Amino acid sequence: MDKLIVEGGRPLVGETRISGAKNSALPVLIASLLSGQPLRVGNIPHLRDITTTLELLGRLGVQLSLNDRMTVEADASQVVDLCAPYDLVKTMRASILVLGPLLARFGEARVSMPGGCAIGSRPVDLHLKGFAAMGAEVSVTDGYIEARAARLQGCRIALDQPSVTGTENLMMAATLAAGETVIDNAAREPEVVDLARCLNAMGARISGAGESRITVSGVPRLGGADHRVIADRIEAGTYLVAGAITGGDVRVRDVDPALLGAVLAKLRDAGAEVDSGGDWVRVRGGGRLGAVNVQTAPFPGFPTDMQAQFLMLNCIADGTATVTESVFENRFMHVEELRRMGASIRMNGNTATVRGVARLSGAPVMATDLRASACLALAGLVADSQTVIDRIYHIDRGYHCIEEKLAGLGARIRRVTASQWRRETERKAA
Ligand code: EPU
Repeated sequence: MDKLIVEGGRPLVGETRISGAKNSALPVLIASLLSGQPLRVGNIPHLRDITTTLELLGRLGVQLSLNDRMTVEADASQVVDLCAPYDLVKTMRASILVLGPLLARFGEARVSMPGGCAIGSRPVDLHLKGFAAMGAEVSVTDGYIEARAARLQGCRIALDQPSVTGTENLMMAATLAAGETVIDNAAREPEVVDLARCLNAMGARISGAGESRITVSGVPRLGGADHRVIADRIEAGTYLVAGAITGGDVRVRDVDPALLGAVLAKLRDAGAEVDSGGDWVRVRGGGRLGAVNVQTAPFPGFPTDMQAQFLMLNCIADGTATVTESVFENRFMHVEELRRMGASIRMNGNTATVRGVARLSGAPVMATDLRASACLALAGLVADSQTVIDRIYHIDRGYHCIEEKLAGLGARIRRVTASQWRRETERKAA
């Protein structure tokens, strides 16, 4: 298993390009299942979750071609299988997104029930209730969700919570349903809006994406389209935090600053200098940052996917602040690892109280989920000595070549294989 080796203490300076958004690219690629015409998707990030999605689509019979500029052409004219198996769903929960498109276009689908995961129990009941309201027969047998419907019927669905993939799954299904579907309390995340744009380019009739009520008028079939996915606001936010905590000067480009509102506001509150233009954001750290209270919430609130990075920022900031996780029940796996590096964090339910310390010290630490691992890389950048991060396959799910991008900004960070690392440590011990 690869590890990341980080030597802290350098301010990050320079510019980095932000990749396409993972959480946009996944549903957009899966939307290809809704049509017999090819869908071309550009700005696909080079990530493990994308590879898993392409493998899943390939197994269903989607013909895929990928060029060296990361444009994927997906042709679902010859779908041969309607089942997403356990071995893929267990590695990527977003596989549940094939349920809506398969059910809507082929009248049936079978998807392994996702299990629990490191950030909480993460049920899919809202997806299933929505399909049932559209007239599908839904059951769970032998660990698989099975859904059937001759043709889905448009209806009114009020989500108990604004689930992102729940909204996406139901919105995709509704494009081919008979009549009008209204989704209330819909997720407003930019990735939902991006998917709606792609679906509309394929001939769907969706209005209201980005607002709490989405209305979809079903059409008999969708066609092909060309779509470019939006930039990854979480990747951008992570590099901006890296610039701020190291007292550096980092510019991220190819990203829409409007998608980063809550994150940029908190960086400013912490004392960082933030500027932005049409498709870039620049952050300058300067002196020691001040502690900032953070509470996660659905978009346009502060994103749960940036919680770990800001908790880390508070670990070395001046003062004490609270970080409250309101979206997921158990997204604090990074806290124990940060404590191993000298952070002072007290937990009370879903609130962490973080007292800033002058410095963190490097330590061997373990990545537990995607954003938790990103926060450990950030901690390594400001720690006194060497940090060794294990299980970095979690990072590779959502950050394209994080070590190359950080090294390009001047960080001392490298990836080693387990055997390289063993040889290095044996040499040092000798
Ligand atoms: N929920 C239910 N029932 C459901 C669906 C959701 O109770 O049927 C609950 C969840 O347990 C959670 C809340 O609703 O407490 C919101 O979860 P949501 O469904 O919005 O999360 P998701 O769609 O599974 C997506 C992203 C996550 C991101 C969240 C929140 C994708 C593929 N994943 O997950 O991204 O954290 O929205 O913004 O879009 C990541 O990239 O690291 C990541 C975890």
